Amino acid sequence: MAREYPPNPAPELVAEGATLAEIAEEAEGCVSCDLYERATQTVFGEGMPGATFLLVGEQPGDQEDKEGAPFVGPAGRLLDRALEEAGIDRDEAYVTNVVKHFKWKAGGGPKPRLHAKPNRGEILACRPWLDAEIIRVDPAVVVCLGATAAQSLLGKDIRVTRDHGVPLELDGRLAVATIHPSAVLRATDDDRQARFDQLVADLSVAVELSHKG
Ligand code: URA
Ligand code: SF4
Repeated sequence: MAREYPPNPAPELVAEGATLAEIAEEAEGCVSCDLYERATQTVFGEGMPGATFLLVGEQPGDQEDKEGAPFVGPAGRLLDRALEEAGIDRDEAYVTNVVKHFKWKAGGGPKPRLHAKPNRGEILACRPWLDAEIIRVDPAVVVCLGATAAQSLLGKDIRVTRDHGVPLELDGRLAVATIHPSAVLRATDDDRQARFDQLVADLSVAVELSHKG
């Protein structure tokens, strides 16, 4: 029989008027799915309430798991460069993930822990934390980085390769999807610059939308 996990407490915390910092603190002890067991710590989002942009990735990676902060590894460094090129100050951006614990499978050699894709149940269990972040940050524009974020927030039919950079709506807010920074890192040498430019162009769409919103 499937194991039962306690429900995610985020909706209750929001209803009680908890601040973003208080919600983040509660998330440190989250045991609402199996992923907490093999990860070092909860990696909650980072940034200011009131940030113009809320950026959503998939889940923390190996380095984020160790440091306890989102997008601080190789993908994060690439994201920082893309944000700078698009004219977005990291202080204007709240950065988070759909899933707050690192899911991994055993690798070998220099990479003992390899990224594993979160499943539907894990994504659903974690979602209330993300919803709470969106409510408390109240951004002008939500930016989905990659398929996991785009499909869980904007609908399963979204394809970031096709729908990137298109202005969309999310619960009455402006939203845009783009490729994941890791997809830029994984691209072939020939393709990498084009993908990076696409990421910057999509972030620039978010900047334009923020002026309308
Ligand atoms: N990839 C993500 O989706 N999120 C991170 O925080 C780091 C890498
Ligand atoms: Fe809780 Fe999300 Fe971690 Fe699962 S992944 S234990 S729902 S914080």
